[in-house]
Amino acid sequence: MQVAVVGGTGTLGTPVVRELAARGHTVRVLSRSAPAEPVPGTEHHAVDLVTGAGLDSALEGVYAVVDAASHRGLRSAPVMVEGVRALLAAEQRAKVGHHVEISIVGCERVPFSYYRTKVAQERVVTQGPIPWTLVRATQFHELIDEVLGGVAKMRIAPHGTMRFQPVDVTAVAGKLADAVEAGPSGRTRDVGGPVVQTLAELADVRRHTLGQALLPFPVPPIGRVVRRVRDGALCLGADGEAVSFDYAEWLRRRYGK
Ligand SMILES: NC(=O)c1ccc[n+]([C@@H]2O[C@H](COP(=O)([O-])OP(=O)(O)OC[C@H]3O[C@@H](n4cnc5c(N)ncnc54)[C@H](OP(=O)(O)O)[C@@H]3O)[C@@H](O)[C@H]2O)c1
Repeated sequence: MQVAVVGGTGTLGTPVVRELAARGHTVRVLSRSAPAEPVPGTEHHAVDLVTGAGLDSALEGVYAVVDAASHRGLRSAPVMVEGVRALLAAEQRAKVGHHVEISIVGCERVPFSYYRTKVAQERVVTQGPIPWTLVRATQFHELIDEVLGGVAKMRIAPHGTMRFQPVDVTAVAGKLADAVEAGPSGRTRDVGGPVVQTLAELADVRRHTLGQALLPFPVPPIGRVVRRVRDGALCLGADGEAVSFDYAEWLRRRYGK
């Protein structure tokens, strides 16, 4: 199948591209910049979701599109809401048959600006013109590690009661590849990691695994975002699917510890 992966150079997009290529699909990687290490057999098309540049030619002959683009700054809505609208319009012109979107478990429960953008993006896709599949995942180990690694530079380990259920991104990529092959299926089962842990537990796992002497820094449950996350808003519900390995195992693999 001819598949385009928008954001195919990112944390999630890269393993999606690899997985689809490994399954024998013809894969186009769409993003603004070419990948540093292209996946063999795939071709890169330069596109910009904000301006729409490159989308029409990149989607010619494509049957399915996976949208793994993201922007975490102030421009998240232009990229992920207006951008997905422009993408769907281009898909309609190209007669694409299936749009696969990735979102975040519990995004509607946490009033954080990026999550509001995800809710708006979901709405554009589910009310849009292209038959769709929507997969929601919990936080990737990479994101947890980026946050804890950034704070560790200040020699502190944040001790908070916020709860997360981080997941291996390659397992999520596998779910998106499954979704491509299954055809338009609507909202699928949420996917997340095997263990729910507090921020303090995750920080301690990292500190011990990497042998870092960090000062525990209490994070009080102030504000709605923190309290909702503490109450498990971003974790899987009873019908979610827990997959892959936990953050401790990810750290061992990532840092060879
Ligand atoms: N990170 C998590 O923990 C997590 C958890 C659950 C769901 N998700 C969802 O997974 C998706 C991917 O997240 P990620 O963390 O893998 O993102 P990421 O690593 O930041 O990658 C973002 C990708 O989007 C591309 N991009 C950014 N702006 C663009 C634009 N204007 N036009 C075209 N492409 C653009 C980037 O390439 P260029 O910069 O070269 O354009 C890159 O390929 C998002 O929808 C996110 O909400 C993430």
